Formats: sequence, structure tokens, C-alpha cells
Amino acid sequence: MSYNVLKGKRGIIFGALDENSIAWKTALKVKEEGGSFTLTNAPIAMRMGKINELAKACNAEIIPADATSEQDLTTLFTKSVEILGGKLDFVLHSIGMSPNVRKDRPYGDLNYEWFLKTLDISGLSFHKVMQVAEKNDSMNEWGSIVALTYIAAQRTYPDYSDMAQAKAVLESIARSYGYRFGKLKKVRVNTISQSPTKTTAGAGISGFDVFYDYANLMSPLGNASADDCASYIVSLFSDFTRMVTMQNLMHDGGFSTTGITDDLIARLSK
Ligand SMILES: NC(=O)c1ccc[n+]([C@@H]2O[C@H](COP(=O)([O-])OP(=O)(O)OC[C@H]3O[C@@H](n4cnc5c(N)ncnc54)[C@H](O)[C@@H]3O)[C@@H](O)[C@H]2O)c1
Repeated sequence: MSYNVLKGKRGIIFGALDENSIAWKTALKVKEEGGSFTLTNAPIAMRMGKINELAKACNAEIIPADATSEQDLTTLFTKSVEILGGKLDFVLHSIGMSPNVRKDRPYGDLNYEWFLKTLDISGLSFHKVMQVAEKNDSMNEWGSIVALTYIAAQRTYPDYSDMAQAKAVLESIARSYGYRFGKLKKVRVNTISQSPTKTTAGAGISGFDVFYDYANLMSPLGNASADDCASYIVSLFSDFTRMVTMQNLMHDGGFSTTGITDDLIARLSK
């Protein structure tokens, strides 16, 4: 059901790779709620992904941009404001990649060039997105910027490797830039800490299926799906959450504040 809560709002959605992507589901829901946007992804992902299908369904233009390139980001923001016919009200940063994870490097044998790449793509790019948006004066007052994160920023998950550090950086940037953008333009900045979700990025973590099941058993509501996450993102882009900023918001079915569950006890007692 649509409530038109984003009627007249304009934005940019980063990170839709295929129909499982959190950004993909978000784009469909933002469209349904009356928002208009441009879609973007790394040029290399465009060749692998199916973003054209999504663009058609959402009547959205695609502007390729590597989120680590200030030049690409400047073009993206400039063109988006032109195409959409005004400044922006929302931005979704739904980006993550670690060469060390992808190539299964043990945490005690990381490649540091790759580590820096992980930090740049998955953490620092969030700062770059906001710095470019500020310098270009692309955001409307009371706009909303959201990035996706994972609880491995606070607690150790061995296979999450250097992505844990990247997410810690990302969450810290949300607080620091949230302060700055709030003062400057009343723009709010938050991260959503999402349950394990079956996507390309998720499945890239080894042992993913096990910790997906574990989190599901450890959450009174079960794991939050990508669709649920999309709805939550819509609420953060809407005017109903105007005073929420600089927060790391847990979207995890209760996982982060649960000690143990009956379901897990039953499983372990077998
Ligand atoms: N899947 C999970 O279990 C899970 C859990 C919590 C948080 N998250 C986070 O959600 C976000 C979205 O991931 P997803 O699960 O939808 O997977 P996904 O693989 O569909 O999305 C990740 C996206 O990042 C893009 N990307 C990678 N490098 C880029 C670059 N240099 N420039 C621009 N884009 C780039 C990819 O092309 C892809 O579209 C990520 O931040 C991820 O860490 C995922």
C-alpha cells in the first residue's frame, strides 16, 4: 500500500546491483511513495548488474559513478539536480566491498593496499558523497542522508574481516557529518544497521548462511528482510523523522539487545 509520503521529493540511490540489493528494493518503494531519483553504481557493476531493468521500472536515469571518485560524484550530483529539476531531499549510500573478503584473505594476512580500498569504498566514500553534496550545494533543507551498516562495527564477527573497520568509520562519519550538515542546512544523516540479508554483498562473507540462521534464531522478530529495510529507509526519507539524526539505527528484529532466545536454547540442546 502506498501513502505518498515522498511525494515531490528528489534524490540519488547508490548501490542497486540486482533485484536482491537493498538499494533495488528501496528504489521500487521510493517510487511507489511518490519520490523521483537518479540511480547510480560503479561503472564496472553496471556491466554485471541489471540496473537498466530497474531504471525502466522506476522511470529513472542512470548516472555511473565510482563512489571513491570525487570527480564522478561531482558529475553525479550536478547532473541529478539538473535531471530531477531541483535540489535533493534524500540520498541512499548502499555500498560495500572488501577485496580482502572477496579473496578470502585471513585477518592475520591482510593485503594493506586492499585494506585501504575497503576503507575507501565502504567507509570514506560516505564522506566524499556528503562533501561533494555540500560543495555543490545540492541538498535541500531538511533533507535526509542514509547509509547501510552492520553490527560487526561494534562486535566481532571473524569472517567480516576489514569490513568491520570500514563500517566503524562509516558510522563515525555519519555522526561527524551529521553535526555539520545539521548546522549548515538542517540535513539529517543516519546509518541503518541491518540484519544479515541474502544479497551479493552478504553472500560474499564466508559462513554467511550460518550467521544468517544464527541471527534469525537470536532475533525475537526474526531477521529483517531487504523489503523491511526499504520501508524503514522510506520512513527516514519522509518528513515523519525530521528530528532523527547522527544515529546508528538498529534494524535487526531485536538481535542487538537479545542475550539468548528459546529457539537457540532448543537448537543447542538437541
Ligand atoms: N547483505 C547483508 O547481509 C548486509 C547486512 C548489513 C548491511 N549491509 C550493507 O548494505 C549495503 C548494500 O549491500 P547489499 O547487501 O544490498 O549488497 P549488494 O551487493 O547488492 O550492494 C552493494 C553495492 O555496492 C556497490 N559498489 C561496490 N563498489 C562500489 C564503488 N566503488 N562505487 C559505487 N558502488 C560500489 C556494488 O556495485 C553493489 O551495487 C552495503 O553497505 C552492505 O554492507 C548488508
